[in-house]
Amino acid sequence: MLDFRPHLSINERGHLALGGADLVELAEKYGTPLYVYDEQRIRERYREFRDAFAGYGDVEVCYAYKANTSLAILHILRSEGAGADIVSEGELYLALKVGLSGDKIIFTGNNKSDRELEKAVEAGVIINLDSLHELERLIDIVEAENAEAKVSFRVNPEVSPETHPHLATGLRESKFGIHEDIVLKAYERAMRCSRLNVVGIHMHIGSQITKTEPYEEATRRLFDIIGRLKRELGLELEFADLGGGVGIRYSGEQSYITPAQLAEAILPIIEEKLAEYSLRKPKLLFEPGRYIVGDAGVMLARVYTIKRTPYKKFIGCDAGFNLLIRPAMYGSHHDVVVANKASLAPAEEVTIAGNLCESGDLLAKDRLLPEIEKGDILAFLDAGAYGFVMASQYNSRPRCAEVLVNNGKAELIRYAEDFADLVAKQVVPKRLR
Ligand code: LLP
Repeated sequence: MLDFRPHLSINERGHLALGGADLVELAEKYGTPLYVYDEQRIRERYREFRDAFAGYGDVEVCYAYKANTSLAILHILRSEGAGADIVSEGELYLALKVGLSGDKIIFTGNNKSDRELEKAVEAGVIINLDSLHELERLIDIVEAENAEAKVSFRVNPEVSPETHPHLATGLRESKFGIHEDIVLKAYERAMRCSRLNVVGIHMHIGSQITKTEPYEEATRRLFDIIGRLKRELGLELEFADLGGGVGIRYSGEQSYITPAQLAEAILPIIEEKLAEYSLRKPKLLFEPGRYIVGDAGVMLARVYTIKRTPYKKFIGCDAGFNLLIRPAMYGSHHDVVVANKASLAPAEEVTIAGNLCESGDLLAKDRLLPEIEKGDILAFLDAGAYGFVMASQYNSRPRCAEVLVNNGKAELIRYAEDFADLVAKQVVPKRLR
């Protein structure tokens, strides 16, 4: 289990360690539940992604903020030189807060509010438009404000990424992107507005993709559209954004691709299309989220209840889908290690139950693990992406703390919420008190 996760190890006490820090000690020190991230792993994955495409030349990696927006992590990625793929005014606020300039930020989203468009214009970010209607609304805004904006369009390449249906975004019937037959009209309209600088094109076909073929097919379609833009509208773009979606290995058995394999598969297609349409080489943008932060994070929970039913043995811990919703929402698999018994052999099959009053609140089903007792610390691996960011206060459980490990040393990066946070923004009308 640890062979393809070099940032995890088993130390001399038989405890699971992340980035050299003993996770059982961190659970004792900071309490459970707890999210822990390894800074060096995040840096390593970012560099791996960037370097895989270095042969192309002009490439920018815009980290997809939605995967994990903890400020310390955003600072790490800014220090590496990453740009930002954002989807809301809140993510714009974060990107500006960590010091990114507008030209390093691309604002995607299928349903931006007028206010979000205004703020994006004000910040000078690249606005990635998702419909003709959004374009018309942006034109109204730049004209009313005598402002200018850089724009691109998100294309729907109509390919199946062969992932979970909830994670596919470039299907024919998907709500995302503009279909090829409409997109040329959109570019033509944008080019007629002197306040818009039409600079790019974008696609994002889905998430947790584990094969290169869907990217190959989508890249062909995207560059055919780029070719048509030149031939039919005389437009040459500054950048082509191929989105995110590269999957990670949630288990040893699962198939996977690396950024290097992706580069090897799609760069020749791009070169071929550039020659076919005599295009200038556009800058390539990528928007990985999960690949950068996914396996750098673990969620720790403490075992309280051991319960045998005639059918199953349940292990009850102090976290539930309020803190890690992926198993409940997508049926996702997260490998589990008993952190204080990391060197013991598996002994029994158990199902790990969360502490929420919902039958779907199972964090891991039918797993072979060492014999588990009250007080043991469970580590849910690969929780760095779409973990804490999707957490809630359901069942009135305050969200937990987060810790960052750097070369064996741990620092708190987010305090746990307390009960006051549950009511902080609520108002009870006087008549009810
Ligand atoms: N770019 C765009 C436009 C996106 O919508 C997304 C993710 C990304 C980039 C980053 O994709 P990534 O490289 O992380 O796969 N909550 C789900 C994943 C939803 C992904 C949404 N969009 C999960 O837990 O699996």
